[in-house]
Amino acid sequence: MEYRRLGQTGLEISTIGLGTNNFGGRIDFEATKKVLHQTMEEGINFLDCANTYGAGKSEEFIGQVLGKEHRHEMIIATKVGAGAMGGPPPGPNQKGATRHHIMTEVEKSLKRLDTDYIDLYYMHRWDADTPIEETMRALDDLVHSGKVRYIGCSNYTAWQMVEAFWTAKSQNLYNYCCVQPEYSLVIRDVEKELVPAAEKYGMSLIPFFPLASGFLTGKYTQGEEPPEGTRFAGSPNMGNKYFNDDNWSLLGKLQSFAGERGHSVSELAFAWLLGSPVVPSVIAGATKPEQVTANAQAAGWQLSSEEMAEIREML
Ligand SMILES: NC(=O)c1ccc[n+]([C@@H]2O[C@H](COP(=O)([O-])OP(=O)(O)OC[C@H]3O[C@@H](n4cnc5c(N)ncnc54)[C@H](OP(=O)(O)O)[C@@H]3O)[C@@H](O)[C@H]2O)c1
Repeated sequence: MEYRRLGQTGLEISTIGLGTNNFGGRIDFEATKKVLHQTMEEGINFLDCANTYGAGKSEEFIGQVLGKEHRHEMIIATKVGAGAMGGPPPGPNQKGATRHHIMTEVEKSLKRLDTDYIDLYYMHRWDADTPIEETMRALDDLVHSGKVRYIGCSNYTAWQMVEAFWTAKSQNLYNYCCVQPEYSLVIRDVEKELVPAAEKYGMSLIPFFPLASGFLTGKYTQGEEPPEGTRFAGSPNMGNKYFNDDNWSLLGKLQSFAGERGHSVSELAFAWLLGSPVVPSVIAGATKPEQVTANAQAAGWQLSSEEMAEIREML
């Protein structure tokens, strides 16, 4: 496994990370345990979670599986501020990027993860109702307290990320070291603004849905029903986002490109993202240990500049 620096920190994370939004939802504790053990076996040290995944179950399962024995081997990222958490009954302050919600939720995440620190704490999304200074100060306090070691943002636009950056910088507060948007061979909106902004401000970009939720694994076929047990079989609307003529045609070309070089299209999806200088790690979700192993193998494929240019032509 290769490890790269996270933003301008000294922290090294594995180029292949593990997304954990399937834990406690699509997969139960026993299946989660197998996936996590395989993750450690492969040398993957970067876990991506959120307080909302599996309504808290994902953090809980991670805490139970890692225990005190393995906690320090892993870099655990989790998030706050996506949806309402807490209750019942749901109250007006159980959401967003307020000091109130952040301080309440961090304690719950620490408890579920069974740890006294979170390596990387993300604001899950921009909160237009809360002043960014309030959010950045609350996160800065968490770093000073030792409960959180590094901070990041997710689903921010470029202007929001830069607004947060300058707010923190002008007040001498700890700053975001990375941003986490959706980015893959089929969803590339971030290339216009966010990628150049991340480069300029020295932030890493950690893509989510690197496999386009499984579309880029080649498990789905145009005109056929999604296979039993796959994500799109359970969530047809998610599939519709990717199932269009342009993407099917592109998938065919990418499969040929990867196949001619003895690789799978999912390996290409990871290798292409890791070919970008702002991307230190890709977080792929997995429901089975075999998927973790397959994804870890992609870390060994480095695309040449000619190959990157050839793919750019296809895109
Ligand atoms: N910040 C945010 O707002 C946000 C939003 C979404 C996700 N995320 C993060 O990003 C992570 C990754 O996203 P994701 O898991 O949803 O999507 P993804 O990595 O694009 O796709 C994961 C799906 O691909 C399939 N898969 C993975 N490896 C495979 C392999 N080797 N062979 C065949 N199929 C394979 C599995 O599908 P099956 O389930 O069909 O087996 C898995 O559920 C999440 O776990 C989460 O941590 C963050």
